[in-house]
Order: sequence, then C-alpha cells, then structure tokens
Amino acid sequence: MTLTGKRILLIIGGGIAAYKALDLIRRLRERGASVRPVLTAAGKQFVTPLSVASLAGMPVHEDLFSLTEEEEMGHIELSRAADLVVVAPATADLMAKAAHGLANDLASTLLLATDKKVLMAPAMNVRMWLHPATARNVAQLQADGVLFAGPADGEMACGEFGPGRMVEPLDIVAAIEKAVAGSTTIPLTGYGPLAGRKIVITSGPTHEPIDPVRYIANRSSGKQGHAIAQAAARAGAQVVLISGPVSIADPAGVQTRHVETARDMLAAVEASLPADIFIGTAAVADWRVENAGSQKMKKSLSGGPVLQFAENPDILAHVAGQAVQRPKLVVGFAAETQNVIAYAQDKLARKKCDLIIANDVSPETGVMGGSKNEVHLVSKSGVESWPLLDKEEVARRLVATLADLLKKGGAA
Ligand SMILES: Cc1cc2nc3c(=O)[nH]c(=O)nc-3n(C[C@H](O)[C@H](O)[C@H](O)COP(=O)(O)O)c2cc1C
Repeated sequence: MTLTGKRILLIIGGGIAAYKALDLIRRLRERGASVRPVLTAAGKQFVTPLSVASLAGMPVHEDLFSLTEEEEMGHIELSRAADLVVVAPATADLMAKAAHGLANDLASTLLLATDKKVLMAPAMNVRMWLHPATARNVAQLQADGVLFAGPADGEMACGEFGPGRMVEPLDIVAAIEKAVAGSTTIPLTGYGPLAGRKIVITSGPTHEPIDPVRYIANRSSGKQGHAIAQAAARAGAQVVLISGPVSIADPAGVQTRHVETARDMLAAVEASLPADIFIGTAAVADWRVENAGSQKMKKSLSGGPVLQFAENPDILAHVAGQAVQRPKLVVGFAAETQNVIAYAQDKLARKKCDLIIANDVSPETGVMGGSKNEVHLVSKSGVESWPLLDKEEVARRLVATLADLLKKGGAA
C-alpha cells in the first residue's frame, strides 16, 4: 500500500465538491493512510460530520473553541500530528485566509500553525478562480510553499464551463503520494543566522524586446540566484527574489516577483529596498533595443531590421550608490569568459560593492544553465576561491559567509 502509516490531516471546505472528499477519505484509507478530518462551518452545509467521521473512522474536528476537542487534541498538536495537510475542496475563501495568514476558525488556524507541507485542491466557480484576487492568493500560497492539485477544466455544478473544478479524488491521491515521498516538514523561518534580516536577490536573465514577439535574452537559468534565495530563507531571512523569465519554480518561503526587462528589474529592486543585503545574481542585459517595434517586424523589411541599442541601468551600481538606503552588504556576480578575477576586482571598485562572486561562464565550464559552479569571492581583503560545487552548496556557503560578515558589522 502506497501510503501505509501516513497521517493525513484533511480540511474540508464549504464547496459543492465537498462530497468528493468522502471518496478521497475512502481512497486514502484503502492505501494505508489514516485521515484525521476537519470540517469548516461552511463544509458542514455540504457533508455531514457523521458521514465524514464514519468514513474516516475518526472523530471530526470542527470547532476552535471546543473544550472537549481542545482537551482531546489541542489545535497546535492537531496541526503537527500529520505527515501532510490536505485541503479539499480548497474554497476561494479558505485560500484567501491562508494567503493572508488569517486564523479565525479551526481550519485557518491549523493552516497557520502547521509545520507540515500543505496540499490544496481548489474547487470553485470559473469566475471565482479567474478573479485577480484569487490569482494573487494562489501566487502567494505558491510562494509560501503550498502545493496544488488542480483545478481541472470542465462543466461546473453552476452550469458554467472553465477552470475551477476540483480534480478527481484519485488525482488528489496521486499528488498526496508525490508530496509525502519527499520531506514533509517545513523548516522554521525566523530562526537561524539570518533571522530578522531582509535580503533582496535578483536572479535569471532579462528579456529586452525587439518587437512584441521577439526579444534579446541570455543563457542564465536562474539556478544560482534561486538557490541563494532558498538558502537565505532557510537561514531565517526575509527574502525578496526578483526573477527574470526562468523555467524553474519559485523557491518555498520566499516572496518572488517576476519581471521581464532590466528596467522592470530595477523598479522592483527599488520598491523592495531597504534591505540588509542585496545580491545581484541576475544576468541583466547591458543594452536594450531603443527602436523596438510596436508591431511585429515583417520578414519583407528590406535589408533586415537595424537595431539601435541604449545602455540599460546598472542595478548593482545603483544599489551600491544609494545615499540613504544602501544595504549593509552589496554583493554582485561577475560572469566572465576570460580574466575572471581581474575583471571582478575592477567591477568591485567601479561599482562600489562589498563583494563580487566571480565565475567563469565559458561554454566548456557548463556553469550557465548547469547545476555546478566554481566561484571566487573577490573583496577588498583579497580573493577566496572555492572548489567546483553544486549551486545549492555555493548558496549555503555564501549565505553563511554573509551572515558572518553582517555579524562583524558589514564590509567584507
Ligand atoms: C451552494 C453553494 C456552493 C458553493 N460552492 C463553492 C465552491 O465550490 N467553491 C468556493 O470557493 N465557494 C463556494 N461557495 C461559497 C462558500 O461556501 C463560502 O465562500 C464559504 O464562506 C466558504 O467557507 P470555507 O472557508 O469554510 O470553505 C458555495 C456556496 C454555496 C451556497
């Protein structure tokens, strides 16, 4: 049995799809899992506590302020005594509460108090799902590390058609199996060497439009910057990650903002300051196309397009040069294909930053887009070279180094 011994805390929200949660309980128990059910007040309008308890073979938890329930198992213990928290159906209301950290009933309090991964199976009317407020909440929940199963497209109970249907119980089971296969405990942020510190990190490439459908990009994958964001969050920092277009997932526990051009990235960085540390990992395009077309350029254009370039803002120099809100540590990356250390020393002085992480991105190194990196830490006090490491390990070491530097008062 695929889920033998796994403990699932199942929160059933107030939607028509609540009836499918009954089948979900059955399917989970068939696979060896135990299911501790929680029913919201609205959920109780759709399925009865008696049906839920009978199928789960466990009492249903409904009330935050019930003396008997709290005596049997307190809400904090309830939120932790599981391998995974599943919300099915996840209503728009439950997701909004969780995205904003509200805790005004048992279900939302459990979602805030848990140290376990949360998997949500949204179910709602298509307009509710597509509403910008719901989209914002889903993005926030994803940034907080919440996993999602669905929703699916299809005809709804209300007669409309589109995305918002809860996926079938067996699809939720498959997502649960996947979720419990990895680590299910979320590390506690707010503790660790960077607790109480705010870090702003840029990552990935930028895209500079040529016309509405074409752009100039570079080979940066965002892997190193995202790994640093993840490591900083694990070290307890409040992390804002400003990411250019990448195909990797947003790191858990990090506030990620997506941008496209260098100028968008600068605006997002400015809006995210002040911070204790700024790390410019992004491969920001040096130039943008000044005469970008407002319409798609046609192939028939005689002689082909002639592009004129304008210099993009230098985000690293801009942050390091801030008079009022300069971060205590400003760290830049220097991706070079030759004279790596000499260029990095020049960049350190020119841009007035505290540390440059230099790496050789010649194609034969496989660094750009690859999973490993060999870096040199260049500061006023000298050069420290690290061996070839996984980008995650580079991130962990860098975060530890920066935490030490901050403790000593700043400059490298
Ligand atoms: C008949 C009916 C069906 C509903 N179906 C849904 C639904 O599928 N998804 C949803 O998000 N809200 C739905 N709602 C609205 C929720 O029940 C309402 O927002 C409630 O406050 C959600 O409570 P909860 O946070 O406990 O889930 C429905 C309401 C009614 C009256």
